[in-house]
Order: sequence, then structure tokens, then C-alpha cells
Amino acid sequence: MATIDVAIPTMTGEEMVALTKKHTLFEWSAQAKVDPIPVARAKGIYFWTPEGKRYIDFNSQLMSVNIGHGDPRVVEAIARQAAVLAYANPFMATEPRARLGAKLASITPGDIDTFFFTNGGAEANENAVKIARQFTGRHKILARYRSYHGGTAGSMTLTGDPRRWACEPGIPGVIRVFDPYHGIERGWDTTQQALQTIEEVIQLEGPQTIAAFILETVTGSNGVLVPPDGYMQGVREICTKHGILMIADEVMAGFGRTGKWFAIEHWNVVPDLICMAKGLTSSYLPLGAVGMRHHIAQHFQDQVFYGGLTYNSHPMSCAAALATIGVYEEDHLIERAQEMGKLLKTLLADLAAKHPSVGAVRSIGLLGIVELIRNRSTKEPLAPFNGTSAEMAALAKFFREQGLYTFVRWNTFFTNPPLIITESEMREAFAILDRGLEITDRAVL
Ligand SMILES: Cc1ncc(COP(=O)(O)O)c(C=O)c1O
Repeated sequence: MATIDVAIPTMTGEEMVALTKKHTLFEWSAQAKVDPIPVARAKGIYFWTPEGKRYIDFNSQLMSVNIGHGDPRVVEAIARQAAVLAYANPFMATEPRARLGAKLASITPGDIDTFFFTNGGAEANENAVKIARQFTGRHKILARYRSYHGGTAGSMTLTGDPRRWACEPGIPGVIRVFDPYHGIERGWDTTQQALQTIEEVIQLEGPQTIAAFILETVTGSNGVLVPPDGYMQGVREICTKHGILMIADEVMAGFGRTGKWFAIEHWNVVPDLICMAKGLTSSYLPLGAVGMRHHIAQHFQDQVFYGGLTYNSHPMSCAAALATIGVYEEDHLIERAQEMGKLLKTLLADLAAKHPSVGAVRSIGLLGIVELIRNRSTKEPLAPFNGTSAEMAALAKFFREQGLYTFVRWNTFFTNPPLIITESEMREAFAILDRGLEITDRAVL
């Protein structure tokens, strides 16, 4: 049989979709309902179907291709590493692994200086839990309801959102607390109320039984929830007081997405453990990591670290991460996300002012969301919790027809472009959002 170069597609979009659906499973979906976009190539903030239909990638795929598609610096670094040493097992030392650990130590907060590499975010969180349990000798883990921490068994249990339900009962020992946000109808707790609730749960559970509190620094897929001022500092204080390790899940919020290397820096807090993936390689290759503070790493000098993965510290992924971090630095993408984040905020505010179906907009850096409502006085969401509606489906269809790809979930849609987006590209995307909202405006009572 002749070799097939899948990098040069020979299939039509229709053939790709049909064969993909016949032999592979799509995530979080009943298979008959999925309607994937066939993708052949991507560059910058755009991707294309085999037939040449162009999409603006307004979600950076899965909030992860932060440096944009097809950056030759990363592609070449991967190719070079593949040619020299594609793989070495995790008991060995390699140059990309050595350099990446050192580089991450220089950009992560405080005295976080040691990293365990994984295949992605879920495994980073799994290993953070293991490290916290082994370090503290305690077993309970606090987590929040409006959260997503990944699709593996432990990370599914940490996850608070409905994706967890089908995976229950999950791992033992996970305790959940409320978030400061209670949905668009009820709104936000004050920082003080939110912290008091956490304290109360800790008292009732027994602080001496709790190893860690895991939380997304800015909650991602559950609504771009930016914590109120003082919340993160308060969580840090509570954790310190009780000897509970604070685990910052920065899988989505890290690597410039919020206008800082890591979102936790907005509140000057140093977590004990920090989990990352997505933007670490901008998804050019799979890689996650859990970073730990110096004294936690010291614990594992004489204690065995019980954890391992065949692809831990994969040389090609580490090389991709180093090149990606180089791109953030060389092109000043963290600063750029801050700057373009101001434009995103203004454009979101314009949508909110103009469209009655916009109930709330939230953003930080280039992580943004629009929440849609059908009633301006009750703020009833345009789709129910964990559900959809004809109007949300029509909006998603419109975006797709118009060549704008983004995440449409429940009563929300996301605005998370690659950090390289220009002002004119941003305005081009917002012109489509603006026209789409005419559909949802018609549903407002
Ligand atoms: C905040 C957060 N944590 C963890 C994960 C899981 O990462 P992965 O899918 O790479 O396992 C995600 C993925 O979307 C995420 O958004």
C-alpha cells in the first residue's frame, strides 16, 4: 500500500467526517448528534476546511492555542527534536527536560521550582492530588462546584460541573464548596461571605483531615468567573492557617490567557502547587505539568514520589514547550494579551449596551464570555443550567455559517482568541457576534 501523507489531505471534508464518525468516539456527546467541522490546516488565528472554508478561531481551539496556529519557531523545534531524540524514558535526563524545568522555575510564582511533567491538564491535577496527599499525610481534597479539572477518574471527581455526574461515585475524599458566583439570576457573594462558607466547610470536615484545596484561578469553561478582590488572598490565608495545600489549576488561565504568565499573579498569591497544560505548548504537542514549592519538592528528596507515566517529560513535548515560551517572550504576548484584553473588554461592553439578550459579560485578558438571558427583569438564562435552547442552537449555527468558531455552552458563548490577534481581526470577529445577537435579541421578553 502506498504511504499516505495525512498532512496533505486527500479526503473531502464530508469523507473525513463520515470516516471519523464511523470509527472514532467524540467526547461528551451522543455520537449521532455530533457535527464536527473538518479541519485541514490552520495559520495564525484562522483554520480552514479541506474545501477552503475559513474560520476565525475565536476559542483558540480549546482555549489553548495561545500563540496562534502554525508558528514556524515551534514547528521547527519539534522537527529538530524528533530528528535527534524523539523519546527517552522518564528515568533518563534530557536537555529539553532540564531546560524546561529551569525555565518554568523562572516564570512561575514565588519559590515554585520543581515540576512533574504529564500528558495534559487532567494528569497534572491527578498528580497534584497525589503530591498533596503524600506530603501532608491527609486525604481529603476540597474542590468547587463550578469547575472543570479534567476527564480522568480523579480529576472527574474534582470537577464540580455536570460532566462529573456520569463518573460518580469517583475517588473517595473529595469535598465540595460553593463558588462566589451563583448563576446569573442570583449573582455574586461578597468576598467575606464566600470565605466564611469555605471556613465553615473546613471546620465541619475537620481541617486536620484536608490535604488540599484545588481551584481554578479564573474559572474557565464554567463561566470565566473572575474572583472578587481579596478572595484568592483569603483562600491562601485559610489554607496556610490550616496546613492545607493550595492547588492552583492554571490549565486554562495560564500562559498569558489573562494577561499574566499565570492568573494567580493578579492577586499576588503563591500557591503551593500549580497545574498547567494547554498554553504550555499552545497545544502543538500534548504536555502538562504540576509545579511545587521548594519545601514540597524537598520532601521527596528522601520520600519516594509514587507517580509515573511513560510519556512523563517527553522530549518532543518539552522542546515544543521551550519554543512556545520563547514565542511568548520574543513577541511579548503576555503584554499583548493585556493590551488586547482592554479592547476585548470595550467590545464586550458595547455588545452588552446594544443587545437586550446580553445579561452579563466578563473578561480578563483574552479570556471572555457573554451570558445570554431571555428576560431582562428576572435574568432567566436563555438556556437552562446544563441544557440548550432553540435560540442558543440558532446562534451557534449562525456563527458557524459565518466562519466564526467559538464555544457555545448552555446560555453562554466564549471570546478567547489566540493572543496574537490584531485589532482588525478582533473587530472582524465582533462584527459577526454583533449580527448573531440579533437572533437572540428576538427571544427577549
Ligand atoms: C481548568 C482546567 N483544568 C483541567 C483541564 C483538563 O486538561 P486536559 O484536557 O488537558 O486533561 C481543563 C481542560 O479544559 C481545564 O480547563
